[in-house]
Amino acid sequence: MKSITIQTPGKLEIEERPLVNPQAGEVRIKVSSAGICGSDVHIYRGHNPFAKYPRVIGHEFFGHIDAVGEGVDASRIGERVVGDPVVSCGHCYPCSVGRPNVCAELQVIGVHRDGGFSEFITLPAKNAHVVPDSIPDNEATMVEPFTIAANICSQLNPGPLDTALVYGAGPMGLTSIQALRGVYGVKEIIVADRIDERLAMAELNGADRVINNTNIDLKSWLEEKGIRPTVIIDAACHPAILPEAISLASPAARIGIMGFSSDPCVISQQGITSKELSIFSSRLNSNRFPQVISWMTEKKVQPEKLITHQYPYTEVLEAMKIFEEDQKHCCKVLLKF
Ligand code: NAI
Ligand code: MN
Ligand code: ZN
Repeated sequence: MKSITIQTPGKLEIEERPLVNPQAGEVRIKVSSAGICGSDVHIYRGHNPFAKYPRVIGHEFFGHIDAVGEGVDASRIGERVVGDPVVSCGHCYPCSVGRPNVCAELQVIGVHRDGGFSEFITLPAKNAHVVPDSIPDNEATMVEPFTIAANICSQLNPGPLDTALVYGAGPMGLTSIQALRGVYGVKEIIVADRIDERLAMAELNGADRVINNTNIDLKSWLEEKGIRPTVIIDAACHPAILPEAISLASPAARIGIMGFSSDPCVISQQGITSKELSIFSSRLNSNRFPQVISWMTEKKVQPEKLITHQYPYTEVLEAMKIFEEDQKHCCKVLLKF
């Protein structure tokens, strides 16, 4: 089988590997479509502290089950499925309280174990989620990025009384905007980014107001307009954002962060406690695949709006280059196997 492998940071190869066989409790997926994510680029460039090399990357993948391991019902062969990249132990504290995404022995597909940029992948049978025929292949490939939005929103509990502020209109900001609009029905969505083309995408995906905050003070801009955000999602993940979000949040607001920067930032107890703010963090997803598949079935989100490019997997280097270099025009790039 052909697999896209990062041999060492900076060295990407399409490699011939022996066909993988499903172990007990696993299925094998014949992959037909996979999405490129920022974290794939981080592994490619050597910026992911968890990655071990060589590594087959890719954690957003769709295909058909074509083989099952011992203990898995053979009737699953032929199912159209998407793979949940979160492989968890099932018995540690986080697993026991329904948070396998932070399992003590967490193995993320495409990071800690080989991923979906490959003609075939094996994974635990319970990680392969059936996709109804009403969801086309490309949209099904987008389930994983929407699970990130589903996970952070499950913490923030947005609703019709909320004014949402989303930092960042990259893929993660856009999935969050779609969920806030189509699933949670918040009152208003404001989006801040540094790139006008991305702000235009935000408007197409459900933002009511957008602001390029490269040269303006967001807090003053919001104050002038009398806007006090009650739900804030940081999908830009610069360490300076959390202190700003705390300062501009409404009393009783909830703030969700998803960044992995190790740089410190300065926040005060007073800024948080005086307004009784709630600050949440969100990593990957905790069993959110069925939820997102039903969002798509019910047409509450429009994943096709995020797909800007598609390439045969043989052109992966070109696809990665566009994804890395053209943030103005590029959102989700799919590879076809
Ligand atoms: P991206 O890099 O495509 O988008 C980030 C956007 O934020 C860009 O459009 C950029 O112009 C904008 N931005 C940067 N600084 C800003 C600022 N100060 N104010 C407003 N906008 C600003 O990244 P993508 O794929 O959308 O992911 C966003 C972040 O989420 C990344 O940092 C990524 O590591 C993180 N992430 C976290 C996950 C989790 O489970 N916790 C999962 C996936 C991504
Ligand atoms: Mn992803
Ligand atoms: Zn566990």
